[in-house]
Amino acid sequence: MPPPTSTQAVVGPSDFRFRCIDCGDLSDRASQDFHCSRCGDLLEITYPEWKYRGVAPGSAGLFAENLKSIWKQRRLSSLPADLSGVWRFRELLPTLPNDQQAITLREGNTPLYEMPQCARIVGMPRLYAKHQGMNPTGSFKDTGMTVAASFAQQAGYLWVGCASTGNTSASMAAYAARGGLRSLVLVPEGKISWSKLSQALDYGAVTCQLRTDFDGCLRLLQELVLCAPVYQLNSINPFRLEGQKTLAIELLEQFDWQPPDHIIVPGGNLGNGSAIGKALIEMRDLGLITRLPKVSIIQAEGANALVRTLREAGGKHLVSVNANTRATAIRIGSPASWKKAVRVLEATAGACEQVSEVGIAQAKAEIGAEGIGCEPASAAALAGLKKLLEQGFVKREEIVVLVLTGNLLKDPDFTMEFHRGDLFAGGSHEANGAALAALRRPPIVLDATLDAVMKTLEHAEKTVPSR
Ligand code: F0G
Repeated sequence: MPPPTSTQAVVGPSDFRFRCIDCGDLSDRASQDFHCSRCGDLLEITYPEWKYRGVAPGSAGLFAENLKSIWKQRRLSSLPADLSGVWRFRELLPTLPNDQQAITLREGNTPLYEMPQCARIVGMPRLYAKHQGMNPTGSFKDTGMTVAASFAQQAGYLWVGCASTGNTSASMAAYAARGGLRSLVLVPEGKISWSKLSQALDYGAVTCQLRTDFDGCLRLLQELVLCAPVYQLNSINPFRLEGQKTLAIELLEQFDWQPPDHIIVPGGNLGNGSAIGKALIEMRDLGLITRLPKVSIIQAEGANALVRTLREAGGKHLVSVNANTRATAIRIGSPASWKKAVRVLEATAGACEQVSEVGIAQAKAEIGAEGIGCEPASAAALAGLKKLLEQGFVKREEIVVLVLTGNLLKDPDFTMEFHRGDLFAGGSHEANGAALAALRRPPIVLDATLDAVMKTLEHAEKTVPSR
């Protein structure tokens, strides 16, 4: 395979530029690893033209109202770009050379659910969940993947690659397959769910299970893209985050542009919280909303690099950890986008918290019992809300949205072990895990007789609480 040539550098068309998040260097090209050629920090996408499009203070109101009405009208359209819950908002995204040829699976368009039972549990009058697990491959990754994979394809790349804890690889493999691209997946051996791994296989990716952790996979990918023409699709790629911004845009549209008080999101590599924050700040600057919701980021105690970075280093340098959690999606020790996330927390006055393994398992069962369900990493958001309420950081009457990042079906082993009572068996969490017994609904094996089923029903009538 030949090394990348200069034509394979990622070139931006005229409406956006790459900006280094540290030294601020502006460029219309990005290297294969998406790091600043001057200082080595991460890049973000910026839109210098917005200043000149009637977006200056004073005219922002009219511009914003136009956008809202265009986005609404597109809901009646049957063009592929308008059917996508990402490309429908294309005015806030980098312009594709050909936007009607985007690789799309109708991503986005995800539901905003009310969660009355979870609200009752945490003692709030109402609580909402934006369920990104309802995307085509079952996680929020699809909203970023449609953008980044489309740019890769239209720039002429033949290969795309990612390191992943499972969801990125599932999403990348699907979008690559739809766009006629070949895909290379690097995942940590034995540390991702079978469900996610099987998606990558089914979508035809070349899948490597490396004997390392996620951080090791990502380091290797970063080296690889500098010596092979493989377009990297991790969230270091700023096009990914542009697509993921649409979670927040769609959410605000669902709230009729009245911002909620608080958005709570689980954090792993810290791309998603960064994307949500960027979207909110841009929407405020464009006059689409008048105030910023707080964005809070929740990590697992065993993968708490951002929590420690803030507490031990004041957010000035990254404190890496050896990550370990059953919420494998967020089992990440050196999050790439930590600096972007720190800035979002500062700009929106959000909090960063850590939650226990038991807290995650309990929250997951509670979200499941609501008839919604999510994967373990997503449940960290509800576990985090409980802590933020206890601390008084979130007030009970506030409007809070939990971002559920992945579908319940993403990690069936976790769910089965929880309900069978095996999740914490023999481990250090076993004693705490006993508190979860009331939430368990293990499958019951019976003889195939009416009598056996009737007895079970009668027993359940007395013991299973009605909702
Ligand atoms: N929730 C789920 C279900 C995830 O898959 C991830 C990340 C996160 C939360 C954290 O998001 O990294 O943007 O802070 N999964 C990645 C992957 C890393 O490879 O699938 P983040």
